[in-house]
Amino acid sequence: MFKDDFLWGAASAAYQVEGAYDEDGKGTGIWDHFTQDVTRCAHGENGNIACDHYHRYKEDVALMKEIGLKSYRFSINWTRVIPEGYGKVNEAGIRFYSDLVDELIGAGIEPMVTLFHWNYPYELYRKGGWKNADSPEWFAQYVKVVVDALSDRVRYWFTFNEPQLFLGGGHKIGFHAPFEENSAKDMMTLYRNVFLAHGKAVSVIRRNAKLSPMIGMAPTGSVCIPTDKITEDEARRRTFDFDSEDYFFSNAWWADPIMLGRFTDCACDVFGDDLISFTKEEWELVSQPLDYYAFNVYQAQTDMVPDRSKYDDYSYIGSPRTTTDWNVTPEVLYYAPKFFYERYKKPIMITENGMANTDWEFEDGKVHDPQRIDFLSRYLKELKRATDDGIPVLGYQYWSIMDNFEWTSGYDKRFGMIYVDYRTGKRTLKDSALWYADVIRSNGSKL
Ligand code: BG6
Repeated sequence: MFKDDFLWGAASAAYQVEGAYDEDGKGTGIWDHFTQDVTRCAHGENGNIACDHYHRYKEDVALMKEIGLKSYRFSINWTRVIPEGYGKVNEAGIRFYSDLVDELIGAGIEPMVTLFHWNYPYELYRKGGWKNADSPEWFAQYVKVVVDALSDRVRYWFTFNEPQLFLGGGHKIGFHAPFEENSAKDMMTLYRNVFLAHGKAVSVIRRNAKLSPMIGMAPTGSVCIPTDKITEDEARRRTFDFDSEDYFFSNAWWADPIMLGRFTDCACDVFGDDLISFTKEEWELVSQPLDYYAFNVYQAQTDMVPDRSKYDDYSYIGSPRTTTDWNVTPEVLYYAPKFFYERYKKPIMITENGMANTDWEFEDGKVHDPQRIDFLSRYLKELKRATDDGIPVLGYQYWSIMDNFEWTSGYDKRFGMIYVDYRTGKRTLKDSALWYADVIRSNGSKL
């Protein structure tokens, strides 16, 4: 059963929805910068205008209220607040987020802030970005500015969204900004600085927040589920183990240092002497207790690992797939909370889950998305099963509140519960939004 105060929500990220990429004093982020090269993203698209949420946020919050959301997870565009990433603060940027928070609270929606969802300041990138030894401190300074401005109204904080993607995808494999392929040695420097930045951010929030904070991270990773061929023990082992190839997408690589204060054994085996080393004080910083284990999860065993043939247990010819070609595997919302709770012993928060679909406006003017309703019904039943088995789950944030700029996929992939006509900006609640509204009203008993 879902608890009475279960946080039924939805999520977004600043670069994907805001637009207004150069307005009111905002500085340039790496996504702003690199997407001006039309070869980077599908159809040469970028987030310059996106959903124009920056100008339409009141309308968007009104729609969230209509759905009955209890929470909304959004991210802060670092360069809207500090245009060069470090130093001078842009008051207009602070005002935007402060007004958004007020609007949400006025609508009875709990604001949840992700401090970093990938649009890294371009000026800091030019100074080496996360490779620079000062980068944890730059992040900490930015976090302090945000916490000072919003923590009288915001309680829920996430330091990083998916380091797997912005470091592994952006700096190792090079399919996300800044589109780099760094050496193994440089990758260790990048990881080290991001671990430290996370730790510093947690300290800054704990020390300065006015409302007692709830702090987590929002990583993702490969989760395995049992099948006819895979036992539960084997699924659990695969969820936390890794070999040299796909380590960056492993849960244990990220979460063990943060949640348990040590590297997983396979990290020591794989990297030997090349593994990051932290001093005792640095370990204490990195592994400060968090309030929950938050997690973005879409499918069992994601397809981000380079060699898919290794785990082909969840897809077969003609198997159910979403528009991003991701496996439809509802049980992952049972096993992910279970495995993470067993290992990290913290309440669970689902910070992203959802599906892309080829939605359009029908002749009757509505957006019918039965696949999404079926997807959600199946996934949420599994989440409910986890709560029935005693796993403490605090909330569920659907990805995404509205169709948006899906990074290098451009605008083709529609994840939203709100349909966006990008020519006019018009919003339409999809059938799934109305269905979700019913689920929320019944606190999940409708499932
Ligand atoms: C997550 C991200 O990886 O999944 C989101 O946190 C993203 O920002 C979502 O939009 C969907 O993934 P993709 O690869 O289709 O953009």
